Amino acid sequence: MEATSSDPSLLVQSLILAASTHDLPAVRSLLLTVPAKVRDPETGITPLHACIASFESSTPATPSTPSNPPNGTSDGVNSHTYRKEELEDAAEIVRLLFRNGAIWNELDGKGETPGCVARRLGLEEIYGMVVEAGVRAELLFSRLGEYQVLAGGESEEEEEDDDEEYGGINGGVEEDARSPQDGQLATDNTADVNSADYLRSGLTFTEDKLLDDESNGVMMAWEKDIMQRTAELILPAPNLRVLNVGHGMGIIDTIFQEKNPASHHIIEAHPSVLDQMRRENWHDKPGVVIHEGRWQDVVPILVDSNTMFDAIYFDTFAEDYTALKDFFSEYVIGLLDPAGGSDGNGGVFAFFNGLGADRQVCYDVYGKISEMDLFQAGFDTEWETIDIPDLDRTGEWDGVRRRYWTLSKYKLPTCRFIG
Ligand SMILES: C[S@@+](CC[C@H](N)C(=O)[O-])C[C@H]1O[C@@H](n2cnc3c(N)ncnc32)[C@H](O)[C@@H]1O
Repeated sequence: MEATSSDPSLLVQSLILAASTHDLPAVRSLLLTVPAKVRDPETGITPLHACIASFESSTPATPSTPSNPPNGTSDGVNSHTYRKEELEDAAEIVRLLFRNGAIWNELDGKGETPGCVARRLGLEEIYGMVVEAGVRAELLFSRLGEYQVLAGGESEEEEEDDDEEYGGINGGVEEDARSPQDGQLATDNTADVNSADYLRSGLTFTEDKLLDDESNGVMMAWEKDIMQRTAELILPAPNLRVLNVGHGMGIIDTIFQEKNPASHHIIEAHPSVLDQMRRENWHDKPGVVIHEGRWQDVVPILVDSNTMFDAIYFDTFAEDYTALKDFFSEYVIGLLDPAGGSDGNGGVFAFFNGLGADRQVCYDVYGKISEMDLFQAGFDTEWETIDIPDLDRTGEWDGVRRRYWTLSKYKLPTCRFIG
């Protein structure tokens, strides 16, 4: 196919069509004049979407086997077998589009990213390419942020431009799953919560939820299995020293208590959570030391006083990924005993892994980024997978403003010092 017209909208349509028919020469030639990140104004489809969605109409050479779970493989990609040549052509176009600036997490009119489409259609290799592109884009995006800080920052307008240009994971907002912008891409319009607003907000405690004054879920009882398994992994024996950042509903702290720790420090910043802790007599529990305030203010004092731990858990609310990264890059090294732990081989650090948890592709990208950042900070990370039940069916979200978790698997990280 030849790009014969200079009409911009026709050129956009031509590129989308060429991508959808896997016409490599046409895509290559059109990319000389049309940016890879264009979208069809009506459908929101980008050339990347079109290329991947073309498999919607192609019959798999081998249908998925009955043993494949309906939700997909353990990695969450539905398993199909498509014709090899077809897949190779598509992969080549996807590669070309990414090299020319295609945005990995752009939403189409149906609210799907190219990665969502690839996953839905069982295109494992292409899904992997999207995840890799996401990791590259996010790393570049965060490095650029660092350069901007070094260069003295930039105006808000310039920052917004960069967000658009690089398609930051959540339009440039990188928050954990319980933070209302997490995993939300361009079309979502839920209000965001920042740390300062949250810490001023009123809270509602019920049997199975802790909500802020806008009904955002701060903590929910369905996470109990995650907390239970985390506690088993990081505090496997009695008489160890544990630090928990973020008390919430006290689920993990209750489990830590059952393990008879030698000392049990808790950092908590929200006045209403602290009041609730007083009502529940947390100050009188064995080994418990409560630090009232934000971890950002408390942790430097603990480091200065040489207080060491065998296990550290980090699970806050309304903070972004940079807060978590700061915590493990700057402070864990001063708090986790390298000769600690149940076997004396070093303490263990874990955190609530909820980044991007309302969209599998974002969750996978963030999993890789955090693992790389942890490695750079001196940690080896192991991941354990925990099944999450269908939370819609069990009515967990009734009365909660936003489903911050939509995935069927939780990836539990445990981090130890390298070597
Ligand atoms: C998701 S909850 C923790 C849930 C807890 N893991 C459990 O098992 O119930 C987050 C907690 O972190 C607290 N928090 C948020 N930002 C904080 C900060 N900067 N420093 C300390 N605590 C913070 C919140 O007030 C909230 O109690």
